[in-house]
Amino acid sequence: MSLSLFLDEALGAGRASDDTVSALRALAVAAIEIAGLVQRNGISADLGEEIGGTNSDGDSQKALDVRAEELITHHLSTSGAAFLLSEEQDDPVPLAGDGSVIVAVDPLDGSSNISVNVTIGTIFSILPAGPMLQPGRNQLAAGFFTYGPQTTLILAFAEGGCQCFVLDPDQGEFLTMGGPVSIPEQTSEFAINAAYSNHWFPPVRAWMDGVLEGKSGPYKQSYRMRWVGSLVADAWRIFQRGGVFLYPGDDRPGNGQGRLRLVYEASPMAFLAERAGAIATDGSGSILDIEPDSLHQRVPLIFGSAVELRRLMELHRH
Ligand code: AHG
Ligand code: MN
Ligand code: MN
Repeated sequence: MSLSLFLDEALGAGRASDDTVSALRALAVAAIEIAGLVQRNGISADLGEEIGGTNSDGDSQKALDVRAEELITHHLSTSGAAFLLSEEQDDPVPLAGDGSVIVAVDPLDGSSNISVNVTIGTIFSILPAGPMLQPGRNQLAAGFFTYGPQTTLILAFAEGGCQCFVLDPDQGEFLTMGGPVSIPEQTSEFAINAAYSNHWFPPVRAWMDGVLEGKSGPYKQSYRMRWVGSLVADAWRIFQRGGVFLYPGDDRPGNGQGRLRLVYEASPMAFLAERAGAIATDGSGSILDIEPDSLHQRVPLIFGSAVELRRLMELHRH
């Protein structure tokens, strides 16, 4: 089934409003254009080139960070979205004015992978118009696109499961990939940047010690590790076959709350994870219950297969 028909059905069934659906259609058009740019990287432009600016968090901006955001803003400005909250903007950007939804985006996740032909993506969260900063629990819809060997989309509404789509390059349309996805409770695969292990706090360190002991350790199994360096790519894998993703806080200066941002990275990921039967936490509670204090605030993000997540949460309680 095409994304277009899927959205028509969600609208008809009352699972999504007109403005939510029109924002999703605009995001899909922007994503197809971003995927086209990515495929031409190095041919028509160097999209991984540093362009001299920095974003809200002090990260140096790449050409594609800016181009992706321009495309998203352009397409959303004729949709039912009132404001855009973006990693690349200090403050909310007014769009149509009277729309009933706010869209939060990480226009281009995985910037460090642009120039090395590794999967990158766009993360989005749709919230009801009202306060700019709302807990993730309020999300009307959320999802992310990946630009890799295939261009894909995973999407969920407040009601129902997570649905995956793949872009058919011949039709220029996203098509459903099977039925709703769920993240299996058990896994033997985890994703963390182990280079920071000497900086981790005790709960993550204790869990990892147990994991690395393999079959003879407390969890009585061996594990595999993966770390792409693009949240979207690690997350896509976890939504397909299970796993655990961790970007915890650590004791590096400025990293007490990890690196990922609550509003447009962790919150949409947590929304998808819960809809897929998994857990997403900062260590103490659900990511979705956190009231943001600022647009770019960071949060420790741990999500994925429930068995490992329960162990991690238990370790955080002590
Ligand atoms: P962004 O490109 O939007 O700044 O996000 C990059 C994030 C995330 O995608 C990834 O999981 C993480 O940064 C990687 O961080 P490390 O380089 O510290 O591993
Ligand atoms: Mn990101
Ligand atoms: Mn980004």
